[in-house]
Amino acid sequence: MPDYQTFQHDVLVIGAGGAGLRAAIEASAAGVSVGLVCKSLLGKAHTVMAEGGIAAALGNVDDRDNWKVHFADTMRGGQYVNQWRMAELHAKEAPDRVRELEAWGAVFDRTKDGRILQRNFGGHRYPRLAHVGDRTGLEMIRTLQDHGIHQGIEVYMEHTVLALLKEGERVIGAFGYERERGRFKIFRAKAIVLATGGLGRAYKITSNSWESTGDGLSLAYEAGAELIDMEFVQFHPTGMIWPPSVMGILVTEGVRGEGGILTNKDGRRFMFEQIPENYRTQTADNPEEGWRYCQGDKDARRPPELLTRDHVARCIVREIKEGRGSPHGGVYLDIAWIKEKMPNAAEHIKRKLPSMYHQFKQLADIDITEQPMEVGPTTHYAMGGIHVDADTQMSRIPGLFAAGECAAGINGANRLGGNSLSDIVVFGKRAGEFAAKFAKENSLGQIDNGKIDLVAREAVAPFENGAGENPYSIQRDLQETMQDLVGIVRNESEMRTALEKLKIFSERANRAGVVGHREFNPGWHTALDLKTLLTVSEAITRAALERKESRGAQFREDCPEKDDRFAKVNTMISKAADGSMQVRLDPLPEMPDDLKQVIEEMK
Ligand code: FUM
Repeated sequence: MPDYQTFQHDVLVIGAGGAGLRAAIEASAAGVSVGLVCKSLLGKAHTVMAEGGIAAALGNVDDRDNWKVHFADTMRGGQYVNQWRMAELHAKEAPDRVRELEAWGAVFDRTKDGRILQRNFGGHRYPRLAHVGDRTGLEMIRTLQDHGIHQGIEVYMEHTVLALLKEGERVIGAFGYERERGRFKIFRAKAIVLATGGLGRAYKITSNSWESTGDGLSLAYEAGAELIDMEFVQFHPTGMIWPPSVMGILVTEGVRGEGGILTNKDGRRFMFEQIPENYRTQTADNPEEGWRYCQGDKDARRPPELLTRDHVARCIVREIKEGRGSPHGGVYLDIAWIKEKMPNAAEHIKRKLPSMYHQFKQLADIDITEQPMEVGPTTHYAMGGIHVDADTQMSRIPGLFAAGECAAGINGANRLGGNSLSDIVVFGKRAGEFAAKFAKENSLGQIDNGKIDLVAREAVAPFENGAGENPYSIQRDLQETMQDLVGIVRNESEMRTALEKLKIFSERANRAGVVGHREFNPGWHTALDLKTLLTVSEAITRAALERKESRGAQFREDCPEKDDRFAKVNTMISKAADGSMQVRLDPLPEMPDDLKQVIEEMK
């Protein structure tokens, strides 16, 4: 096959954000050859956009913190449908992964006595987020990249993987193309780690970068893996809403961690009016106490702005719907008010939140040390994803591993902020370790040339369609549908309409046409992304329909309460033999008594 260049590695990692880099480092350290494929340039993965910090119970700021509290917070935030074993491993191992990053050169902010500083974040009982101002993800990627690059990892930048290749049940390689030149490539491997991140681009308003089109989920699903908890899509309460060109860009929860307050058009701190029963004892009922909490008073309770994201996002939506929103359809987030409390507030804000200061100054002409920001919910994170074994991160396909946002289980119905940066290093490491082990125990497989020709033919079909349907129009229509019909507030009839529309988009995607050739052709890339966007959108919608209750990030106005029938189940999505998407409910694994006791104690 002269057209296709072939490359060979023991372990192929697809995705070079924090999870992919950490997996590649671990596999390489185990002595196997590693290829690392990324959709954009190395160092530009979406992890760089993670701002507020990495959650780990180091106990540097409050020595009452430990893995048990972190575990219990994560389970409660996830409304107890988390895979408890992942939450346990995560809470236990996160501190070591943070210290390791520090040893590899990450320069975290410090406490006065020189330890890693930790800040408050929603749903975390104690200050737990190690951070680098509000550029934590950037520092992590820089550190991991510097470390990884010296280990002989082969990097394939600006490549998109179109299909996983199998021999029998086992995965043995991947087929994709180089985005710049459009050349097809075959990657042979003994084990593969998917670390492709999220799917926010299925929605119109998102904090996610252009890469987040759910590729890993779709690749795994097509190869026969299962997806779990797809209904749980996190809408971060605070994204930029104005000007329209920057709508959705993240405004870190760190702003609220540093004392930022949410107000409506009447200047009222509406969050005080809506404190859920199960958080009442931990939540301040007056502004003064909330401020003391943000200043590190260990006896104070957290302000209601630091309740979990699902709750805060819904409260904001309510204010807007009931006519108490800001001029551009959001609410106000105000950090400038701390001037009343601190003589050097402006300097403090610029030091603690440098990115936010520049982001608003440059993109919205707002000085956040003087004026409130206008914010609204933005699609931020997929709690659902590829179902993996908690310890090894292997999916049900032998040799196929997944880590980071594209894998799922740890977060249940709602993720706590900062838990994704710790997730990617904890489970990235595990995926790399077990993929290397698998690679050592297995040989390379035999590539099926027929399958490759088929995928390649499908990939160039948009050129044959010529001036068919515009891929950008299909993408826009899909994003609007998901935003409007499967967004923060859902109901059965709208989701059924969404499914019908997705079917039509799928037919339109088959007719998507592009002109020109394979070199430097973004229209073609968009046409190819449609397949993955359609798969994840259908999976979200089907899972959301199946869970006939409201829990965590899923709010159904037609079933507004939690329902015990769904308290101990996960939704599972798989591809049936006839090609249709199947959804079923699986019981959660039974939690061992010692962990049940931890949760009880922490209550
Ligand atoms: O608000 C933030 O800085 C986001 C952090 C996260 O999603 O973990």
